[in-house]
Amino acid sequence: MENFNFYSPTEFVFGKDTEHKVGQLLKQHGANKVFIHYGGGSVKKTGLLDRVKKSIEKEGLDYVTLGGAKPNPVDTLVYEGIELCKKEDCDFILPVGGGSTIDSAKAIAAGALYDGDFWDFYDRKARIEKALPVGVVLTIPAAGSEGSSASVITKESEGLKRGTGSKYLRPKFAVINPELTYTLPMWHTAAGIVDMMSHIFERYLTPTKDVILTDRMSEGVLVSIMEAARTIMKEPKNYEARATICWAGTIAHNGVLGVGRAEDWTTHGLEHELSALYDMTHGAGLAIMFPAFMRYTLNQDVERYYRFATKVMSVPENHEHKREAALEGIKRLEIFFGEIGMPTTFEEADAKKEDIPKLLKTLKQNAGEKLGTFMSLTLDDAKKIYESACEK
Ligand code: NZQ
Ligand code: ZN
Repeated sequence: MENFNFYSPTEFVFGKDTEHKVGQLLKQHGANKVFIHYGGGSVKKTGLLDRVKKSIEKEGLDYVTLGGAKPNPVDTLVYEGIELCKKEDCDFILPVGGGSTIDSAKAIAAGALYDGDFWDFYDRKARIEKALPVGVVLTIPAAGSEGSSASVITKESEGLKRGTGSKYLRPKFAVINPELTYTLPMWHTAAGIVDMMSHIFERYLTPTKDVILTDRMSEGVLVSIMEAARTIMKEPKNYEARATICWAGTIAHNGVLGVGRAEDWTTHGLEHELSALYDMTHGAGLAIMFPAFMRYTLNQDVERYYRFATKVMSVPENHEHKREAALEGIKRLEIFFGEIGMPTTFEEADAKKEDIPKLLKTLKQNAGEKLGTFMSLTLDDAKKIYESACEK
């Protein structure tokens, strides 16, 4: 295990009806005027936004609202948000929604206290030194942004999807009521499940040796996610399964499973180019890219993939033929993604093989020529991984 610093100061308030506590939480965390941010309108339809407003009003706090954060959130709304936030003198940012709304809110929180262009943080021209405090009301377990230090934004004019990270972006609190996820379309439920599993894979596939504690924790979370996912597909309103998925989504990405080990994140890089080019749902893109990445990197560490296959994908132990067992594990993962309704090839997602040069161009702009921690890869390797994901 490598040395590490782990800082995760978010207060998680989890369970039924917890959204009614948001006013109190804002007050406890020192808010005076709250900037409420939301997405395309699901929170209006479900009545959640009204409940949140009521809870804030009850505490006598002031607020403004800005909706419109879309999946794969864009810079143009962030600029609008920063301007509104400064004009209204807001001192606390409250995204009510999923990863896209939260990431847009985090960008506004950092941009509101920065004199330059907020995109500098995503362009790696500047580091975030401060941000307005962010509190979250989560409506979809997926990106893990409610507990993470990251924010991912797309610069619309250039089609560039980029992330930044800072301890100042970690939410002060996150309200997670699993019942709020009953209204999620199955597509987004499934995409969220793939995303949270992928956040674990990015950490599980590591060159660091002797990380048995986080290996076993990761395996336990992965198995729990798949069990709960199968229940939700049959019973979308099963509270315990929804609750498992909600908390799994947070711990998959708040950093606790990545401590003491090198993380990879190549597959997220490969996927972000797909969601930037096609506006594809992030989790759907990952369902295509992860099996392809795993097969391509299998020989890098057959033992690790064998472990994954036997501990997570229920492949029977076979010490004589570890590579075959490992391959079977990847195959079972791909089948699971298909079972929950996710695409596993370019073809199934209407992505085009002819576009691979475009994906590689933006990948190079975003990540450079050398990728990977688990296995060192070049852009030529990335090309081969994309090609292998085109069709079965
Ligand atoms: O916009 P509304 O109308 O609210 O609808 C949303 C959206 O269409 C809908 N939805 C959310 N909660 C709902 C609901 N519909 C009905 N009932 C509910 N309870 O679901 C759709 C997807 O929402 P979105 O916020 O886009 O989902 P997600 O949480 O998957 O976020 C995806 C974004 O997060 C980024 C992704 O790249 C993508 O841009 N990521 C952020 C990370 C981070 N900050 O740490 C890490 C991730 O790896 C990821 O890259
Ligand atoms: Zn992700």
